[in-house]
Amino acid sequence: MLRIAVQSKGRLYDETMMLLEEAGIKLNRGKRILLLSAKGFPVEVLFLRDDDIPQSVANGVADIGIVGENEYVEKGQAAELIKRLGFSKCRLSLAIPRDEAYGGVGWFEGKTIATSYPAILCAFLEARGVRADIHVISGSVEIAPGIGLADAICDIVSSGSTLVSNQLKEVEVVLPCEALLIANKNLSGEKREILDELLFRFEAIQVAEGKKYVLLNAPKERLDAIIEVLPGMKSPTVTPLADDAWVSVQSVIAEKHFWEIIGKLKSLGAEGILVLPIEKMII
Ligand code: PRP
Ligand code: ZN
Repeated sequence: MLRIAVQSKGRLYDETMMLLEEAGIKLNRGKRILLLSAKGFPVEVLFLRDDDIPQSVANGVADIGIVGENEYVEKGQAAELIKRLGFSKCRLSLAIPRDEAYGGVGWFEGKTIATSYPAILCAFLEARGVRADIHVISGSVEIAPGIGLADAICDIVSSGSTLVSNQLKEVEVVLPCEALLIANKNLSGEKREILDELLFRFEAIQVAEGKKYVLLNAPKERLDAIIEVLPGMKSPTVTPLADDAWVSVQSVIAEKHFWEIIGKLKSLGAEGILVLPIEKMII
């Protein structure tokens, strides 16, 4: 049994639950709300505050965890970084009152900065030779300058709307962040195996992201030109049709090249083009 610590609510919750579900982990609703087992897969999910996840994984209360990079770096706990998950992207940034003129990081010299991330901020300032007074606040950091508690803040910025509504502006990115998969350093062989299976499933989901499955009918005489437009994973699948002059072609394309590729296919005489989403891909 592998125990996964996830955020009980907040920034990472929705996407974490979606990832687990896509990986085939369906949770049993139970009497216990903080620890749920999964159907048909030897994992259980422990719901925690994000701040508590790095330590829980480091000390073995949980075997692995899905946590924001901000919390992982700040807590400096001895948990192993297994994989960057690529979702819940945001940044830990320094922000100052909107109307202040800003000429560089020297602005912070002698200033008071409110944050929930003192370790990360301290290292950032030290590396730049800036001495500032760090005030640790656990929540609502963004209101500190407005009520005269600090000159600036260092906090998570995602859309930036929290800064705007508090008349602040972002001036330095301290740490770009995303969701991370972390693990205890002393997992048993059995737990490693479950983790490997989970990683295999996560990777299949990530690989499929941004890819589409394309099916089309192609005139046989233009087949070579059409195949050239379709890079595919190895080579496209070509199957005969009842009409001898036509074949059916199937392939995978990257979503970012979608319109470009479809345009070329049409001009090469492709017909009946079907584009389907791909849920998972095992290479
Ligand atoms: C952060 C931060 C802001 C908000 C910024 O809190 O403290 O309140 O997100 O997001 P925005 O740029 O989209 O407005 P978070 O949701 O991480 O909660 P937590 O600090 O309580 O963990
Ligand atoms: Zn938090």
